[in-house]
Amino acid sequence: MTSGSQSASSRERTIASYTISDDPARLDLRAIHAYLSRSYWSAGIPFELVERAIKSSLCIGAYDSAGAQVGFVRLISDCATFCYVCDVYVLEDHREKGLSKAMLAMAIDHPKLQGLRRWSLVTADAHDLYRQFGFKALAHPERHMERHDPDIYRPKR
Ligand SMILES: CC(C)(COP(=O)(O)OP(=O)(O)OC[C@H]1O[C@@H](n2cnc3c(N)ncnc32)[C@H](O)[C@@H]1OP(=O)(O)O)[C@@H](O)C(=O)NCCC(=O)NCCS
Repeated sequence: MTSGSQSASSRERTIASYTISDDPARLDLRAIHAYLSRSYWSAGIPFELVERAIKSSLCIGAYDSAGAQVGFVRLISDCATFCYVCDVYVLEDHREKGLSKAMLAMAIDHPKLQGLRRWSLVTADAHDLYRQFGFKALAHPERHMERHDPDIYRPKR
């Protein structure tokens, strides 16, 4: 569905007074960076990295009635076989209104992300949120490997 000033190919849905949209033109990079730089997974991330990450990702935002960015989901995908879901947040004052579920539903239904062999994500405590969208604990964790530097954005001494 498209309307008004929306980009021609973008999707939008409303939930109460909020709008969920995949329109890259609506993204407020400063607001997204403000949250991600205090998140538990990317504390201290520089603005330039958030900007670069968003450029190469499919992103879905949640916006209040004034258009302010209150939620975000970033999807890293080849749009053919695989998608990694990350940077999922809703600002504190706007939680428990179904916004993360609405953003994830838009992601799962997204026309560019159909027929993928694998979706993946990492979460500390929101497993029950993602279970609602078909995510399960790793069937064969012994087959998965990672290179992970959790301190990469910490100031070096
Ligand atoms: C997790 C988060 C995105 C949920 O956003 P929200 O818009 O408040 O969530 P919703 O209203 O769409 O509902 C989330 C559902 O998942 C469930 N849930 C499971 N684990 C949860 C968790 N750790 N936090 C919030 N909800 C959780 C809720 O109980 C709710 O269930 P319901 O369908 O029975 O109502 C939000 O609390 C947040 O930004 N938390 C801090 C950042 C974070 O942890 N992000 C996830 C990183 S993987």
